[in-house]
Amino acid sequence: MRAIIPAAGKGTRFLPASKAVPKEMLPVLDKPAIQYVVEEALAANASEVVIICNDDKPEIAQHFSPDPALVSSLEEKGKSSLAESVLHAGSLPVSFAEQPEALGLGHAVHCAASFVSANDEGFYVLLGDVLVPEGNLLKRMRAVSKARGNASVIAVMSVPREEVSRFGIIDAELTEGSQEEGTAIWQIRALVEKPTQEEAPSNLAIFGRYLLTPAIMQILAHTAPGAGGEIQLTDAMVELLKTEDMYAVEVGQGEGFDCGTIADWLSTNIRLAAQDAELAEAIKAAGANLC
Ligand code: G1P
Repeated sequence: MRAIIPAAGKGTRFLPASKAVPKEMLPVLDKPAIQYVVEEALAANASEVVIICNDDKPEIAQHFSPDPALVSSLEEKGKSSLAESVLHAGSLPVSFAEQPEALGLGHAVHCAASFVSANDEGFYVLLGDVLVPEGNLLKRMRAVSKARGNASVIAVMSVPREEVSRFGIIDAELTEGSQEEGTAIWQIRALVEKPTQEEAPSNLAIFGRYLLTPAIMQILAHTAPGAGGEIQLTDAMVELLKTEDMYAVEVGQGEGFDCGTIADWLSTNIRLAAQDAELAEAIKAAGANLC
């Protein structure tokens, strides 16, 4: 199953940091955010990882290209773990497709249409705005899909009511598991992109991970612009729902990390650093200085 990672957006929420550096290349601890996403797809046995990019962001392809000169110079200096990390980043198998204009997430996904054939079981879409560094979310989604005739499955997370307008929100019926135990599986009745609080049918937000059937590509070919004047993946899923069942698995609060705003990115860095013995000390020290 292929994995598609859209990475051609403008990164407006991260300006001015993203003026010359793609927001996908901003570090989360010691790695650019997009490397976590590529590694997550590969850990789920994706057969190919396709990054949707454009000419304005050559840094992403450069990051995933080998740099033998840098590796040897680090090795000569005895910096073997840094050499290993550079070698690793340059050896991750990624392909690229181009999105010449940032016309929306749905448009970005459709730019990889040539990588998806109608006979494929489905494909993953992973948004760089959320990180799931340790989990087995994609494998869980695949298992749910397989058990339901290879249906589309997305990840959702409950968000505070005041934040629903930042997300795609689903209306759904619980079919299995429980929210308390983090095992909830929902059957989706409807989806709406960026609703107002009054319009939102629930507080279950689409959380940046999708397993979609190939039929979505035909729909995306004619999906009209929606919320924010952009071609929305959510709108194409609304159409897909007319002919196919669709499910959602719920992501627990500690399982995934939102990186979509400066505040979320900062909190993701702190939460991940807290899991690292050395960095946890630095955070504690900084915290102590604040008191
Ligand atoms: C996108 C999707 C939205 C989803 C969100 C977070 O929005 O369109 O449905 O809830 O990612 O995964 P964006 O953040 O690109 O505006």
